[in-house]
Amino acid sequence: KILILDFGSQYTQLIARRIRETNVYCELHPYDVTPQFIKDFSPIGIILSGGPASAFIEDTPRAPQIVFELGIPVLGICYGMQVMAAQLGGKVEGAKKREFGYAELYRQDCKLFGEMSDRISVEGQAVLDVWMSHGDSVVGLPAGFKVIASNAATPIAAMADEARQFYGLQFHPEVTHTLQGKVIIEHFVHDICAAGYDWNMPDYVEESISRIQAKVGKDKVILGLSGGVDSSVAAVLIHRAIGDQLTCVFVDNGLLRQQEAEQVMEVFANHLHVKVIHIDASKQFLQYLQGVTDPEQKRRIIGREFVEIFQQESAKITDAKWLAQGTIYPDVIESASSKTQKAHMIKSHHNVGGLPDTLHLKLLEPLRELFKDEVRELGLVLGLPHDMVFRHPFPGPGLGVRILGEVKQEYAELLRQADAIFIEELKASGWYERTSQAFAVFLPIKSVGVMGDGRSYEYVIALRAIQTQDFMTAHWAELPYTLLGKVSNRIINEVRGINRVVYDISGKPPATIEWE
Ligand code: XMP
Repeated sequence: KILILDFGSQYTQLIARRIRETNVYCELHPYDVTPQFIKDFSPIGIILSGGPASAFIEDTPRAPQIVFELGIPVLGICYGMQVMAAQLGGKVEGAKKREFGYAELYRQDCKLFGEMSDRISVEGQAVLDVWMSHGDSVVGLPAGFKVIASNAATPIAAMADEARQFYGLQFHPEVTHTLQGKVIIEHFVHDICAAGYDWNMPDYVEESISRIQAKVGKDKVILGLSGGVDSSVAAVLIHRAIGDQLTCVFVDNGLLRQQEAEQVMEVFANHLHVKVIHIDASKQFLQYLQGVTDPEQKRRIIGREFVEIFQQESAKITDAKWLAQGTIYPDVIESASSKTQKAHMIKSHHNVGGLPDTLHLKLLEPLRELFKDEVRELGLVLGLPHDMVFRHPFPGPGLGVRILGEVKQEYAELLRQADAIFIEELKASGWYERTSQAFAVFLPIKSVGVMGDGRSYEYVIALRAIQTQDFMTAHWAELPYTLLGKVSNRIINEVRGINRVVYDISGKPPATIEWE
């Protein structure tokens, strides 16, 4: 397996995904792990990620020196290359010319690049189109290194000590803008580190099932099923491993999308024969939300009620020893890096599924190693329906944060209908897959309209559709006018109580994705 040491670049997770795409297992850990940790991990190769610091300033992060003493290949990317240069006796400087975006590099022959090129220059040199994002540069090679790619702005754009198998790239092979990036990473892991092709989903399913069986034995397991991708995939995987020792608890808080509870029960209980306890607590939730208008207070109430009900139900399964959760790899990495404050990202929302440890159950998290796309692949391998596996994310508080101000049953009904029409039309037009999240929002204000010969005075629905990689920043989706027109028409005609539809054209930042 490959070890990636994270210096805090926004692209570090992409490095891990690219490696796994070449069927090699890798893990991502903070740069300051102990030498003993690295020895115990016994990597066949190490990658040093990019990061926001400057390697020519003292006291900025360094790789543990043991990285260069194990006799295994090392690849430094961006800051990782600068750190490698600085630690092995080279020189790094704040560059006079900064480079952001596309760059053309002339490459030399070496094991990392092989024969590759995007084109041949008029002088007959092999050219690579790469993605750069750096202010500092390596200006002096460490002993034993040679330049393997360069251009006018960055004379040492890539370097190698082929005897020791140390490589440094100033550009980012992990982003798709670097056209040959995938091939460079393949060369590193397969040709230079000699990794096998042993990370694949069907094998993973078998291994994972054996691991769950060995861990759980004859014990009983409880899982809070939300209908979202992660908890659904975790449920099917665990069910494959231990069958009826698993009980899922599905809480309907009255703030779900149209037909959601029915669909979850249909897929899990009827189709996959998973034991699911379906609790309809919608009255209870609505009661507690009565008169509450503050978004954060609504979140707290919904979260607290969920925990309360989940605890009551799981207490009834007296001999349960395990609590299963659909925690995935990005959740694990995020909490690790926010602890050490390395990632400059702050995630303010947590799933309502975060349960307290007063349940005295051991945690079972079978998806902890997987990225979202791997979880989806696993879901398909396990036979979950395509629609469920490729669903947009849905917040824990559900429609509770999409009905502005006080939540009422009547509002939830109107919103559910409008939202269902919007999603149906997105799917029919092929736009559902081209947006990252899309939904309707209920505005509890009335405006005047004219319907037939009469005057109407009814509520407003806002439509929101966004495109994003990470949900930290997002663009509003440029949906075709004809599509928006059709959705608006249908909502106003079919949903009694709505006479106006608006489209939200705010980006994040400054607006958030949800309206509350
Ligand atoms: P915002 O609105 O902050 O949302 O731009 C970013 C992503 O997080 C989701 N979200 C939540 N998820 N509990 C959740 O589990 C919440 O309270 C919550 N609030 C927002 C939102 O749907 C989007 O995907």
